[in-house]
Amino acid sequence: MKRKLIAGNWKMNGSAAANEALVRELTGGMAGAACTVAVCVPAPYLAQVGALRAGSPLELGAQDVSEHAEGAFTGEVSAAMLREFGVRYVIVGHSERRQYHHETDAVVADKTKAALAAGITPIVCVGETLAQREAGRTVDIVKRQMAAVIHTNGHCISEIVVAYEPVWAIGTGRTATPEQAQEVHAVLRTQLKAASEHADRIRLLYGGSMNAANAADLLAQPDIDGGLVGGASLKAADFLRIIAAAR
Ligand code: PGA
Repeated sequence: MKRKLIAGNWKMNGSAAANEALVRELTGGMAGAACTVAVCVPAPYLAQVGALRAGSPLELGAQDVSEHAEGAFTGEVSAAMLREFGVRYVIVGHSERRQYHHETDAVVADKTKAALAAGITPIVCVGETLAQREAGRTVDIVKRQMAAVIHTNGHCISEIVVAYEPVWAIGTGRTATPEQAQEVHAVLRTQLKAASEHADRIRLLYGGSMNAANAADLLAQPDIDGGLVGGASLKAADFLRIIAAAR
């Protein structure tokens, strides 16, 4: 069986003092975890959190990466730079990046490629808005988003992680039901299987108001292989309960 992945997405939260307290509680409390655990932290804190996690199984992640290798791209961070800080995972195409930074499917696909080329596992986010769900377009939207990534990355696709994050569930306290999430995960699995004979090994995470109370039911679904956790990853006790539910 695949080892589940629980990834925390801190978004633009944290401070040197808060990070230290949180990471110490996490590394102290996750002994015996049956899943892989990562925290995706703001870029300026990669070195700090990298040092704090040293010697523990907590993996380091970033929240974005440039699609370019180097050059005149003010404000951007390359995959090779992330790699130098020990980053193992990077979130790509989060709906907040698609929405506020106008990242297209093609840009998300190129960022995925840049991460893979540097040996970093991209956590590729897909998901529909509320209006798209209500219009019955959920499957079309997530398949279109996924198809761009498959098209650009070919046989390397089996090396990615996918996060299905319905936009209407992110930070709203409104979670997809386990059945709603599983339905979309099954669609994505079928699409990935058509692209790669190794698609069974791809971890499909659910994200969107996952918390200590609903994690176990979501993680019990056959095609849900972990979670991408925002708000609840900022509280050590909550995040540790989600980690404990992933087995
Ligand atoms: P949330 O965020 O858990 O706070 O809903 C998830 C995400 O945006 O990755």
